[in-house]
Amino acid sequence: MIQLGLSGFYHDSAAALVIDGKVIAAIEEEKLSGIKHDSSFPFKAIQWVLDYTHITIDEVDMVCWYEEPSLKFKRVKKSITGNWKDFLINSANGKWKGFLKRWSQGEGNISGILESIGYDGVVVYTKHHLSHLAFSYYTSPFDSAIGVSVDGVGEEETILATLCRDGKFQELTRVTFPNSLGLVYSAFTAYLGFKPNEGEYKVMGLAPYGDATKYEYVFEKIEKYDRLGELLQINEKYFTYKKSENDMFNQNLIDLIGFLPRFKDEPIEQHHKDLSAALQKWYEKIFYFILNRVNSNWSSPNLVLGGGCAYNGTANGKIKEHTNFKNVWIPFAPSDAGSAIGACLYHWHITFGNPKVKGGDNQSPYLGPEWNDNELFDIITKTNNGVRIQFIGDDSELCKVVANLIKDGNIVGWFQGRTEFGARALGNRSILGNPHLPDIRDRINKVVKKREMFRPFAPTVTFEDYQNYFKSEEAVPYMNQVVNVVSKIPIPSVTHVDNSARIQTIKREQNPLYYDLLREFEKLTGTPILLNTSFNLKDHTMTNTPQKAIWTFLNCDMDYLVLGNYLISK
Ligand SMILES: [Fe+2]
Repeated sequence: MIQLGLSGFYHDSAAALVIDGKVIAAIEEEKLSGIKHDSSFPFKAIQWVLDYTHITIDEVDMVCWYEEPSLKFKRVKKSITGNWKDFLINSANGKWKGFLKRWSQGEGNISGILESIGYDGVVVYTKHHLSHLAFSYYTSPFDSAIGVSVDGVGEEETILATLCRDGKFQELTRVTFPNSLGLVYSAFTAYLGFKPNEGEYKVMGLAPYGDATKYEYVFEKIEKYDRLGELLQINEKYFTYKKSENDMFNQNLIDLIGFLPRFKDEPIEQHHKDLSAALQKWYEKIFYFILNRVNSNWSSPNLVLGGGCAYNGTANGKIKEHTNFKNVWIPFAPSDAGSAIGACLYHWHITFGNPKVKGGDNQSPYLGPEWNDNELFDIITKTNNGVRIQFIGDDSELCKVVANLIKDGNIVGWFQGRTEFGARALGNRSILGNPHLPDIRDRINKVVKKREMFRPFAPTVTFEDYQNYFKSEEAVPYMNQVVNVVSKIPIPSVTHVDNSARIQTIKREQNPLYYDLLREFEKLTGTPILLNTSFNLKDHTMTNTPQKAIWTFLNCDMDYLVLGNYLISK
């Protein structure tokens, strides 16, 4: 069976091609369009997954859309037209007309859009959170688990918790719009001068610099804990995201906080850091409360997480400290991009009754395009930009040479194999550096990625050794948990101000070349750890093609670029 999984029209559009339950190819639209968090219909991604697999659109048996548009329509209609006074007197009428127009050209017309590219077959829709949880559960190593999807909003639910057992889902509880952990986090992200659905990482990075107690009172006002049996009730008085996705808060919130919202180019001051800290602390409090409440009825040691909020690595890293869960699984793309895969897996297992694969399946994030050495050579020579090229055909020799360069303080672009699916560079589209050198972090922030100086960098560490350096009881293969650094040898360029790090643990079978590079680095320095950050400049999408890798290399102060077996220097 050939399934084409799709997500789009909110953020992180993507396409995935799945054959008999195996993900063969997947890519986010943004990696092809260059538009960050591209939410448009994933035409380019569809074309690429079909080209890669040599499958034509009429050979696809089923298109799996990642949510239920009809249910989402009801929620949006209620939000915009719910108050008749507002609807008649204020701007709601215009908003509704605008929404109807967008809807009829987009989510309300998925079949029509597919017809325009030659597909007139079956289209199935899966509820938003079930697509998230299907991706999380079926890829997980657990036979049974509690599944929790935490998001901005799906159709109506903002959080869905299920039992995941015998390959099926059974709902435990839900939280509904406008009570949303994700949307409140995004509203404060906007307040702090960052872009919602994108700048949340920056807020997380700022939080450790702040004093949460300074703004705790804000969060005491905006949420009502467990009121009327609900898991989360947000005081709507402060927020406007119910009516508009672009306008998330109002004057009441400004009055409550006591300082004006920050514009994006204004300096970041201590009160911004303090508010970030208070927000993150509040998020964690609610998050653990919900996890504990869900697990109190049907106790399980296993948790699978999904939804955009599952990128909150700081909260994820402390789940075991604050709950009874012993094992946590978060897939490589827990936000809406991953739901393109999740929607396919849901139908493969639920509709067609295929059992869950024991130990999990589809765990490789390397699902995008790749180029062989001949193709790379053509591309490098065609760019004709005066770079020096050295071919090192033997992989172990290549690892030795690159490990030496990194040890000596060079910053190296590392472009290998297939592009990762998801927001994280996991060793195929990465910029690498020496974690021991204290100035590497500032250098990469300042002259390579050209981004905010406060932002931390993450380490990759070999699976067999991670506990010597980081306080974590389990592997973190997709860099989605922040844990404490316990290394006796300083690794300053990957240690955040609060002694934490968002780690990636790696086994050789997950990425042999990258693993071997870590081992070569260990021979030189004693530690199998590298600084690993995504291969892109600030405000650019993660590098996908060799052309973009070369452009990026030439437009920043990166020292070396490794494209396959080619070592390139300026
Ligand atoms: Fe989502």
